[in-house]
Amino acid sequence: MQHSSLLVLNGPNLSRLGRREPEVYGTMTLDDINEGLMGRYVDVNFEFFQSEYEGGVIEKIYDCEDRGGFIGAVLNAGALTHYSIALRDAISAVQLPVVEVHLSNVHAREGFRQTSLLAPVCAGVISGFGADSYRLGVEALLQRLQA
Ligand code: DQA
Repeated sequence: MQHSSLLVLNGPNLSRLGRREPEVYGTMTLDDINEGLMGRYVDVNFEFFQSEYEGGVIEKIYDCEDRGGFIGAVLNAGALTHYSIALRDAISAVQLPVVEVHLSNVHAREGFRQTSLLAPVCAGVISGFGADSYRLGVEALLQRLQA
């Protein structure tokens, strides 16, 4: 497979994975997850980015769109998923396919987590498979590229 770039983008509080509510989000850190992806997909040129800020996440989407060469983004937007119209508009504004991922099954949790403002403008949604949700998101983008 040719080398292609793929963005793995994380929003607020995902920097705390491993320490943050491990009973909900598991014990792997974000670095563990990212290293796992790099080890598994050696031909993919990953770019990893996390921000605690809505604007940081939005700017990264535009940065990758402007630089070009990205097959898509795997996005765990954290709580922004449930309320950020600005992030939704950014996803909607670019050609970059975005796969929404969550470690937890948001549909089995509090009511406010069961709404995603992003899902309608994403290529698809993966939720509930722990750290493996990221791998499934990458897999979906790679399959999409082949199709
Ligand atoms: C999360 C689910 C969100 O509801 C929450 O705000 C997060 C993490 C997940 O990966 O399960 O920060 O996106």
